[in-house]
Amino acid sequence: MSASSEERRKQLFEVANELKKKSLEKNHDFRVVITGKGGAGKTTLTAVLSHLFAQHKYNVLAVDEDPQQNLAFSLGFPIEKADQIVPVSKNLDYIEEKTGARPGEGWGVMLNLNPDVSDVVKRFGMKINSKINLLVIGSVIQAATGCLCPENALLDAIVGYIKLREGEVILMDTQAGVEHFGRALAEGFQNAVIVTEPSFNAVQVALHSAKLSQQLGIERIYLAVNKVRDDADREKVLRFIEGQNYFQSIHYLPFDEQVYKNEPDIGPLLEGSSPYISAVKGLFLELTSKDK
Ligand SMILES: Nc1ncnc2c1ncn2[C@@H]1O[C@H](COP(=O)(O)OP(=O)(O)O)[C@@H](O)[C@H]1O
Ligand SMILES: [Mg+2]
Repeated sequence: MSASSEERRKQLFEVANELKKKSLEKNHDFRVVITGKGGAGKTTLTAVLSHLFAQHKYNVLAVDEDPQQNLAFSLGFPIEKADQIVPVSKNLDYIEEKTGARPGEGWGVMLNLNPDVSDVVKRFGMKINSKINLLVIGSVIQAATGCLCPENALLDAIVGYIKLREGEVILMDTQAGVEHFGRALAEGFQNAVIVTEPSFNAVQVALHSAKLSQQLGIERIYLAVNKVRDDADREKVLRFIEGQNYFQSIHYLPFDEQVYKNEPDIGPLLEGSSPYISAVKGLFLELTSKDK
């Protein structure tokens, strides 16, 4: 074989390999915002879903916007290394670099409200494993006041940017709820999973969140009723949501001692026979059935 045909053969081999790799990887954009009352089980659910997507060959970007910032540990990041996690919202230099002001300097300073944050995942993303990347953005400050502070300008820009990323499943764990991010979320996130416990208060928060998600135009809204112990819990939630038609479907996730025992890391549960994980798989299957 001549040198050039050998070269050509190599090239073809590489192209074929590349195509094979691509066909094995799922390259769809699929974005899910997970919201609900504190303690309902958002972070645990986000972590399990991240692992399930990763096991099914999706590239996952898990985004932690919960002020408790514990998604990393639920995903298996070692607690001893907690000091390595610096949420973007606390990175004063980055905030200043992007918005032109440091937190606390927002008033009277010209803020760049539309900064280019396309480097944020590269700079702050934490590799959990070969398929899961975690971005800890941290909490939103006084969302309700709509304050024009540099941190909020930056977080808005990040959520706006996230929707432009391609070839990834994005799972965003948020306590601030969908209202803060408004249009940026609605434009990019097709799915909202609202987590509730079988309690009156948690269901009220869930209904509020569902209403806002619907108003924003998020296409599919799922209700995950977590920590369910018996039929009475199911019936109670059904009574509280009677007459509301926000939800594509309702998934009941059982109370599971193993979740408590292993917390915060849900990794060990993925291997065994946890009733909670089995129920989350049902939600996962329904979510992905819309990924065509
Ligand atoms: N199905 C479940 N069964 C038992 N404990 C659960 C379950 N889901 C979550 N938990 C526990 O409830 C607590 C709160 O869960 P978490 O995911 O941190 O809630 P959130 O992120 O909504 O505040 C954690 O201790 C977690 O281990
Ligand atoms: Mg949480």
